[in-house]
Order: sequence, then structure tokens, then C-alpha cells
Amino acid sequence: MAVPLLDLRPQYARVEADVRRRLDALFESQQFILGPPVAELEQAICDYVGCGHAVGVSSGTDALLAILMAMDIGRGDAVITTPYTFFATAGCVHRVGAEPVFVDIDPETYNMNPARLEECLHKVCHSGPDGRLVTAAGNRVRAIMPVHLFGGICDMDRLGDLAAEFDLPIIEDAAQAIGTDYPSRSGRSQRAGAIGDAGYFSFFPSKNLGAFGDAGMAVCRDGELAAKIRLMRNHGMGTQYHHEKVGGNFRLDAMQAAILLAKLPHLDAWHEARRRNAALYREEFVRLGIDARITLPSEPHAASGLKNHHIYHQYVLRVPQRDRVRESLTAAGIGCAVYYPVPLHLQECFASLGHREGNFPEAEKASRETLALPIYPELTPEQIREVAEALARALEA
Ligand SMILES: Cc1ncc(COP(=O)(O)O)c(C=O)c1O
Repeated sequence: MAVPLLDLRPQYARVEADVRRRLDALFESQQFILGPPVAELEQAICDYVGCGHAVGVSSGTDALLAILMAMDIGRGDAVITTPYTFFATAGCVHRVGAEPVFVDIDPETYNMNPARLEECLHKVCHSGPDGRLVTAAGNRVRAIMPVHLFGGICDMDRLGDLAAEFDLPIIEDAAQAIGTDYPSRSGRSQRAGAIGDAGYFSFFPSKNLGAFGDAGMAVCRDGELAAKIRLMRNHGMGTQYHHEKVGGNFRLDAMQAAILLAKLPHLDAWHEARRRNAALYREEFVRLGIDARITLPSEPHAASGLKNHHIYHQYVLRVPQRDRVRESLTAAGIGCAVYYPVPLHLQECFASLGHREGNFPEAEKASRETLALPIYPELTPEQIREVAEALARALEA
């Protein structure tokens, strides 16, 4: 039995009636740009993640661009992030003219390692002539951008301590982590995207909450910043045809907002199903006796009692001889993928940053060793068994 990496059709069957109802109403109105569905989605996302402000935009990438532009981050500035993430994280920093500065990941969670961030802030960066923190290249450090990869969450308490020590804002790349809960040391749980000063989500179709095309959302705590992001979303235009800033067309389509509103009420059940699938994989790997030969995704906050301690946007294992295993699975009709085969510091377009192999060993290792298996909510236990058995055969070959 072939098992795809992702099949969105059963999810559509579940929401189809509501999607069609909402789209019919929209088609009647013939108002496609921003408007009531976008405002309703923004409020629904504020309520869902517990943040003060949300601004609907055309993609996760554009959310980050709008945030960086609203924070006036550009030439002569730098943003610290990790090299093991989707390209947009660092690509947007570069696009606004700033320097992406990388720190390595934690080998268990694949997220920013606070110890490496500390080294970067204390040793790699230094105090400039005006007392402000600057990078080795002389750019002023303006923000820290941790990435909540694969639906897990970063060690936000420790990252927050370092951000406070250096008086730097945190921009959370929560593109893959809408709904992930963090058990902060204050005893209060907080949601990805709403912990730092600003954050953003991607609604790319394959995300846990996916649109029928590109869409995204920027979120933040401060009303003034939200107003600036809103301005940037629409060509920096306050009153019509009066441009206070040079922004872009980062507007969210009303159609995508309507579709996302139909899906949002199901999101927690879908997260739950993904966690159930992860637990089933674990059982199957133990049954097949291969659990010690692979490294399962870590769940550092499983004991917190928070349901969404992980939302399993991707189910990513470390496997020996990854490329050979991947070929065997593909030949057996099992969908699998490598996220991400080339860490960002080794991407051709960032050659000018002067990095070389060995600079971020954990990111490089993860790029060589990890493999994502199907995890979408509607997978059946039989399909999960099929994937696990194919993996066992691939490991034996
Ligand atoms: C970690 C991360 N950052 C940023 C993005 C960019 O989001 P989008 O594809 O919606 O532009 C993605 C989307 O894949 C992502 O996974």
C-alpha cells in the first residue's frame, strides 16, 4: 500500500460545506481584498494564540518582511537566527538589506540552542563605539529570531533571558507552530508567536492550518508595531494614495481568510490526531525492534500537561544512512522528505557571508541525517503500520 507524505483531500471533505458556504457569501459580496473575512480571521487568530494584534498577509514570508520593515530593520543591521530552517527565515533578513547571523541548533529539538546564542552574543558580537551590540562585520544587532521548527517550541525562557540581557526584541518564526504551547517558567502557558515581541505564521497549504494557496499572519504585542505592520502590508499607505513609508502589497486575500475561518475550529483536533499518529509510530517502532536504531522526535514538554506541547507539523526522525533509507522508502511508495538538505549558511546565495562547512556542525548533521515521514491527521493506523514496516525493511537492507 502506497502512503503519501501528505493528502489534503480527506481534510477538505470535512470542511467542504462550510468552505463553500463562506465562499458563496464572499462571491455574492464581490469584495476580494481585505474586508470582513480578513478582520474576522485576525480576531480569531488573536483569540487562538493569545496575542494582542494580528495582521493578515499574503504569506509567511511577507509577514516576516512586513515585520522587519515595520521595525525599521535594514542596511547596517543584523538579525540572529539559525541555519537549519526554511530559506525565508534568513532570506527575508537579507532582502531588507540586513545581515543574517547564524547560531547552531540543539541536536535534540533542532531549535536554536540557547548556549550557542549566549556565545554569539558574548563572544562573536561585541560592543560598538556607541555601546550598541555589533557583529564581526560591524552591523548592529537588532533582533533575535528563533524558529519553532517542525511544530515543537524553542526554549523561550532561556532565549528570553538573553534577549532581556542585551535589550533585543524577539521575532518568533512560528510559521510551522500555530497553536504550540510553551510551559513558561512563570507557570503560565504561552503560545508560539505570542511569547516574543512579534511573530508570524504561514498558512501554506501543507501547514497544520493551510489555506488554498499562499497566506500568512503577523502577530505582535504592541499596538504601535501592529499599526506599522498594517501600513507596510499596503504600500506604506495611511490615507488613500498618501504613502508614509515604502511598503509592499502584502495583503491577505479575503478568499483565503474565509477558507481559514472554516478550518480554524478543527485545528486542535487535527493537532491531536497528529500527536496520536506520532504515538502510534513510537509503538510500531518498538514492536518492530527498530526504536533504538533511529532517533525519534523529542518531546521536551510532554510532561508539562499541556496538550499542544508539540503539534507535529512534521514528523522528523534521524536515521542511519538517510539517503539510502529515503530511496528504499520512495521505491516502496512511502512518501518521505528531507527538511532541509542544505543548511542556510552553506547556500550559494549566502556565500558572501563567508561561512564554510564545519561552522554549524549540528545544523549540518541534521541536514545529513533527518527524514520526515507522513504525519497528517487522517492517516489510518494501517497506513502508519505500513510506513513503519517499510522503514524496518529499509534499515535492514
Ligand atoms: C520555518 C518557516 N519560515 C518561514 C516560512 C515561510 O512561509 P510561507 O511559505 O508562507 O511564505 C515557512 C514556510 O514554509 C517556514 O516553514
